[in-house]
Amino acid sequence: MQSRAKRSTRSTIRDVAKTRMGRRPIADRQPGRITGRGNVLVTGGAGFIGSHLVGRLIRNGHKSITILDNLSRGRTENLAAAWDSIRFVKGDIRDQETVARLMKGIDLVFHLAAQSNVIGAIQDVDYSSSTNIVGTAVIMQAARAAGVRRLVFTSSREVYGDPSNLPVPETAPLIPKNAYGMSKVAGEMCCTMSAGQPPETAILRLANVYGSRDYGRVIPLFIESALDGRPVTIYGGNQILDFIHVDRVVDALVKVGCGDHVAGPVNVGSGKGTTIVQLAERIFKLANSHTKIAWQPGREAEVTRFVADTARGRIHLGLEHPDDPLSRLPELIAWSLSQAAPVSRGIAV
Ligand SMILES: NC(=O)c1ccc[n+]([C@@H]2O[C@H](COP(=O)([O-])OP(=O)(O)OC[C@H]3O[C@@H](n4cnc5c(N)ncnc54)[C@H](O)[C@@H]3O)[C@@H](O)[C@H]2O)c1
Repeated sequence: MQSRAKRSTRSTIRDVAKTRMGRRPIADRQPGRITGRGNVLVTGGAGFIGSHLVGRLIRNGHKSITILDNLSRGRTENLAAAWDSIRFVKGDIRDQETVARLMKGIDLVFHLAAQSNVIGAIQDVDYSSSTNIVGTAVIMQAARAAGVRRLVFTSSREVYGDPSNLPVPETAPLIPKNAYGMSKVAGEMCCTMSAGQPPETAILRLANVYGSRDYGRVIPLFIESALDGRPVTIYGGNQILDFIHVDRVVDALVKVGCGDHVAGPVNVGSGKGTTIVQLAERIFKLANSHTKIAWQPGREAEVTRFVADTARGRIHLGLEHPDDPLSRLPELIAWSLSQAAPVSRGIAV
């Protein structure tokens, strides 16, 4: 079967809503902070984190937001509340013509579009590499050519692989364990090539993010199983992960995008470790579920331990985290119950 990457990356462009994308206000071309008057491009804006970011940008008064997403994993429903305030373009970040066209007049790029999970990346290395590496290079090159002021890249804790010590500072060695982590290291390289020339780039290394609109990852999968009374599958069982609510990640994205420039990568995690078994038991209790754990052997490519050292994020971005990183689980379970049918389209973890 022909791989997705080998098919044409030229997608039909569907500008379904237009915003006032006029000339850039003079004030927004000056160095420093980027105000609501700047023109913003969000790649991957129809996805889990991207759609939450777009909602926040609108609430913060941003008037000109363009979203580029090929809807391979994102959904326009995620943008329902934002629809009248955005310009949505269905297209691919690897399509140089589309990207160059959209980049004109943009001040700030949040580059989130990616093959966003480990299992998916391993199953289709061609697509994940071309999207996460070539796509990022296309975005970066077009941003430079168009005179974009700042570009924010969402990297991942996966760049560290299985670190020897916890918590993990940004200076830890980058030894990715799988195709996804490798593609994020390469994506970071694309963003830092010719550092010193515009655009300013900022890199956030996200831990395990949770919240509404996500699907196929560990927390939504556990919640779905608990609510349906189906056994929860755990691979291995020794994993220690760092979970952070999507609202805290959006705080970090907005600060690093619109505030003073922070050079160099910043971890975005809670700084607290949760074992996978603790997570499952907590979800069972909250969902009032008597379901069981189905044990499976660990999956070789999966990172088994990560807790972020959050000092840099605290110092440079003022990021603060609640004592309990999973305090928003009850709200997420309530949201999951309110959905007509679970959005379970394959495992993504
Ligand atoms: N969710 C997490 O726990 C997590 C952790 C670390 C890093 N990240 C990174 O954060 C970013 C956002 O993640 P997310 O959880 O919202 O993932 P997501 O899959 O929900 O969103 C990614 C979006 O990118 C779009 N996309 C994929 N390939 C594309 C392409 N070739 N052209 C245009 N659009 C494309 C998808 O349709 C989707 O809407 C990603 O870069 C991901 O790698 C996420």
